Amino acid sequence: MRLRATLASSKSIWDDEHDQVIRARLSGSRTGDAGFGPLPIGVVVMLAVEAIDLHYGAAQALRRVSLAVKQGEVTCVLGRNGVGKTSLMRAIIGHQPISGGSITFGGQSLAGLRPEDRARLGIAYVPQGREIFPLLTVKENLETGFAPLKRSDRHIPSELFDLFPVLHSMLGRRGGDLSGGQQQQLAIARALVTRPKLIVLDEPTEGIQPSIIKDIGRTIAYLRDKGDIAILLVEQYFDFAKELADTWYVMDRGEVTLSGDRASMDEDDIRRRMSV
Ligand SMILES: Nc1ncnc2c1ncn2[C@@H]1O[C@H](COP(=O)(O)OP(=O)(O)OP(=O)(O)O)[C@@H](O)[C@H]1O
Ligand SMILES: [Mg+2]
Repeated sequence: MRLRATLASSKSIWDDEHDQVIRARLSGSRTGDAGFGPLPIGVVVMLAVEAIDLHYGAAQALRRVSLAVKQGEVTCVLGRNGVGKTSLMRAIIGHQPISGGSITFGGQSLAGLRPEDRARLGIAYVPQGREIFPLLTVKENLETGFAPLKRSDRHIPSELFDLFPVLHSMLGRRGGDLSGGQQQQLAIARALVTRPKLIVLDEPTEGIQPSIIKDIGRTIAYLRDKGDIAILLVEQYFDFAKELADTWYVMDRGEVTLSGDRASMDEDDIRRRMSV
């Protein structure tokens, strides 16, 4: 069994007693049913980005960017404002065409595939700024995640409400009436409804209060430790990323300027590169 002990790493910024309760509840709820149960061991690189370029008109936003995202790991993309993090995510999910290089997912080239095709393959996106539907209820927002699923899979996994109990109590409420943190949780939950193999989160902590940041951190660690999902996390909040990153990439002006794994993290150097 590949499953690591949830949050096994040393002391984390969201480690507390309440956490134990959530962990126990979540591990008790793992049934391996049509929710997101464990998958076989052995898959390594889920997503491979190789030397991609991306242009907005004449302006080049990405230059020969490469990265690999592995199943059961959190891969972090770090960098200051405007360095191309979101452009990279948009290239991966198919919202913006690349002008060079290649992207493969599960060994398959994504060239020419539209965002909805990529979603059907198992790529889910939690956009920067959340982009939930403010006039739809929480339940309806979650159901928008059904789009890439076969009819028989179109249900909300009960595990989601273990992860985000607050959403369960607000199913009938309009998305726009939730707090920013609750909207972020809804955006993550909506992505999980699609049963992704890869979840791309673009700055999920941006503008969110600390207690919800902890919840989001726990959720990401839980998903990682299940072992079957690859997680690509864009962050500017270094302390958050540091807790989670198995592999990290620092970007500057459209390029990856430094990368490494958890063991090779030179915190001071990364912080310097992330400050203005
Ligand atoms: N739709 C667009 N058209 C033209 N230029 C764009 C567009 N989107 C982004 N850019 C430019 O591309 C560069 C990279 O932007 P991007 O949003 O990818 O950066 P980012 O690292 O995600 O920034 P932030 O941390 O502020 O979210 C910036 O110079 C930005 O102005
Ligand atoms: Mg961005």
